[in-house]
Formats: sequence, structure tokens, C-alpha cells
Amino acid sequence: MRTQVGIIGAGPAGLLLSQLLHLAGIESIVLETRSQDAIEATIRAGILEQGTVDLMRTIGAGERMDKEGFRHEGIALRFKGQTHRLDFPELTDGKSVMLYPQHEVIKDLVVVRQAGGGDLRFEVRDVTLHDLDPSSPKIRYRNKDGQTDEIVCDFIAGCDGTNGVSRPSIPQGVLSTYEKVYPFGWFGILCKAPPSSEELIYSLHDRGFALVSTRSPDIQRMYFQVDPTDKVENWSDDRIWEEFRLRLATDDGWTPKEGPIFSKVIVGMRSFVVDPMQYGRLFLAGDAAHVVPPTGAKGLNLAAADVQVLAKAMQAFYRQNRADLLDQYSVTVLRRIWKAERFSWWMTSMLHRFPGNDTFQYQMQLAELDYVTSSRIGAAALAENYVGLPMA
Ligand code: FAD
Ligand code: DHB
Repeated sequence: MRTQVGIIGAGPAGLLLSQLLHLAGIESIVLETRSQDAIEATIRAGILEQGTVDLMRTIGAGERMDKEGFRHEGIALRFKGQTHRLDFPELTDGKSVMLYPQHEVIKDLVVVRQAGGGDLRFEVRDVTLHDLDPSSPKIRYRNKDGQTDEIVCDFIAGCDGTNGVSRPSIPQGVLSTYEKVYPFGWFGILCKAPPSSEELIYSLHDRGFALVSTRSPDIQRMYFQVDPTDKVENWSDDRIWEEFRLRLATDDGWTPKEGPIFSKVIVGMRSFVVDPMQYGRLFLAGDAAHVVPPTGAKGLNLAAADVQVLAKAMQAFYRQNRADLLDQYSVTVLRRIWKAERFSWWMTSMLHRFPGNDTFQYQMQLAELDYVTSSRIGAAALAENYVGLPMA
């Protein structure tokens, strides 16, 4: 079996890349270890930057998003019992973000890809990468029925997330890695309740961080900071709501809308980057190459930005016989990635309580929040990053 681009992973990066290549007349095969049902049911990110929204429309996957997604023109930052709204269009020349959950994005991408005759292979096993350096890299894997198959390609796109096989297939010594693990995690819940707020609320309280988001008009997504080794079993529904009430309390008596909790999860938080994001004919994109803590809602959006650059570079290769854009891929995308890493680290550092009760550090965080909510320049810097920096 032969194809032009072998794509490992059917997350946002792999599916978007496959569709972008298809629209450019480049064929690909997508290999995914999980089932279609599983990828469409995994609850992850919620916020799409303006550029990701535009991309979904451009590639013909924006119809349902435009009907069912919610345009958010701002966020609230809450601290010391007060709420401060940042108005994105006003601070960023008209830009905004869209609340449209990642699993809905995945569903829409699978639909457009399959409608275009896309070759998506789910439930594959034992994926291995070979001959990455010469001009005909190969992917071997076992299909759904257990048979072994080999795909010979021009390029491999490693879009297989943090724990995939692509990054570890690069020989030792090629990649420099940069990592920071945070001393807290997020406890995330889904509950059956209408939105407590039309826009997201990011709150810093003496007891720690809390975030109010939504998934649909009758489902809320909410998070609060916990010890990363904590267990969901330690948190009864009553204890969770008590914690949200405390951390989100305002001087004028605001309380969240409560309802039955039907999902509880604890996620760790880290920053991680590899440089370069390529080796021979293998190109990494999305979480396979970099991870951000979730506080800035950047993970999915970074994956979308990477594959736009990669698709353009591949198009230049096939249409104009130019390899320079492919050669420059890592340098090009890493400039934007490092800025998103900085923003996510900064938001995380500003909005969480750090263990050890360093009261000076806490006062610095409160002063920073005061600055970004009272200075137009401070507010504009946050807003510019939140809606998304220009594509590379
Ligand atoms: P992924 O979405 O991870 O997709 C990779 C795909 O590759 C997966 O479907 C996987 O099954 C598949 N795969 C793995 N190994 C193989 C293999 N060997 N062969 C074939 N396929 C393979 N970001 C936010 O912005 N906000 C959030 O609230 C948020 N919450 C998150 C919660 C969790 C639990 C996690 C893990 C991430 C969260 N993120 C969030 C980050 C965001 O979801 C990711 O940045 C985004 O999914 C990255 O897309 P991707 O396509 O690069 O990787
Ligand atoms: C959501 C997650 C985030 O990390 C964030 O910053 C905003 C929203 C969400 O899951 O809705």
C-alpha cells in the first residue's frame, strides 16, 4: 500500500491535516488506535481561537459549529471577591473566541473527511515507523482484524499526541526537550445545569483556582485546582459544590448553578516542548511535540496552527518542488508555540495557589491580576494572546 502522507493519530491535528491535504489534492491515510466512538466521546478542550474557527469554516467543517457554537466576546477574571470583564473585540480589533467542544470538532472533521472519501483506519494496533531518513518512510501496523499491513509514504505526520509512537521513533540525541511539571492538577466536572455565566470565569481564591465553562445550554464544565495526586473518590458531589461556592464567591453573593455531576476527572498539568519537531521525513504536530497547561485553552488551537503550516509546506513540495518550507517547518511553528507556552505558563502562574504558602508570591499574583484588569495595555496583552496570535 502506498500513499503520499501517512498520518498517525485522528485527533484534531491528524484530522485537520488530512482535510487540508485533501483540499490541496494530496492523498493521505490516517491511522488511529482508538475506535471512532471513543475519539468522538472524549471530553477535552472547549475554546476555539478566532484562527481555528476561521480554519474550520475554510475547510468546509464549520456549518454545525456556526449553528451550535457560542461566540464569546470576553472572559471574567475574579479575585478578592470582585469580577472584572475583559472585552475581546474592543481590546483586539474585533476578535473573539468560540465555545465549541473538541469532541464536536472531531465529529465534524470525521464527517467531512469521510464525505470526501478520506481513508481513516480506526482501532489499529502495534504502529511502528521505519526508514524515516531516506525518501520512502514506512508505517507498519496491525489492522482491526489483526492483519499486518505496511504503508509506504513520502512523508509521515506524527499527530499521535503525548503518548504516541512518533516522537519516540526519533533517534536519541536528535531532540532537545523542555519540560515543567506544575505542583497541582485540575479537577474537572460535567454537570447537568444551565450555564452559571454567559462567559467563562477564571477565579483566583485563597483556596485556589476555579474555572466556570459550559458545554451546551444544559451542561456545565467546571474545574478547580487540586493536588495532582488527589483522587476523584475523595470528592463527593456535596464537597465539590461547597468548594466551588467558596472559590467563586463574590462580595455581592454570586453562586454557581448546581446540578447532578456525571463526570469527574483529575488532569495533571505540565509544559513540554521538543525542538526540532522533525526528523528526516517525519514531522510532529500538536501534542506529539508540545503540551501546555490548560489555563490558556491553547492545546487544540496550537495543533490546528501546526498543521496549517505543515500542509502549506507539503503543498509547496508537491506543487512547486520546493523543500525549503518543509526544512523550515520546526523553526516556523516553534516561534508561535513558544509564545503560546509562555502565555499558558503565565496564566497558570497568575491564577493558581502554589503549595508552600509563599505570601509574597500570592501578593504578586493579585497585583498582576489587578494590573491586567485595570490597565488597557495589560488587558490588551491578555486578550491578544487569548484570542490567538497570528498564524506563523
Ligand atoms: P490528541 O487529541 O491527543 O490526538 C492524538 C490521537 O492519536 C488520539 O486520538 C490517540 O488515540 C491517537 N494515537 C495515540 N497513539 C497512537 C498510535 N500509536 N497510533 C495511532 N494513533 C495513536 N486543551 C485545551 O485547550 N483545553 C482543555 O480544557 C483541555 N483539556 C484536556 C484534557 C485532557 C484529559 C487532555 C489529555 C488534554 C486536554 N487539552 C485541553 C489539550 C487538548 O485536548 C490537546 O492539546 C489536543 O487534543 C491536541 O490534539 P492532537 O491532535 O495533537 O492530539
Ligand atoms: C475550557 C478549558 C480550558 O482550559 C479553558 O481555559 C477554558 C475552557 C473548557 O473545557 O471549556
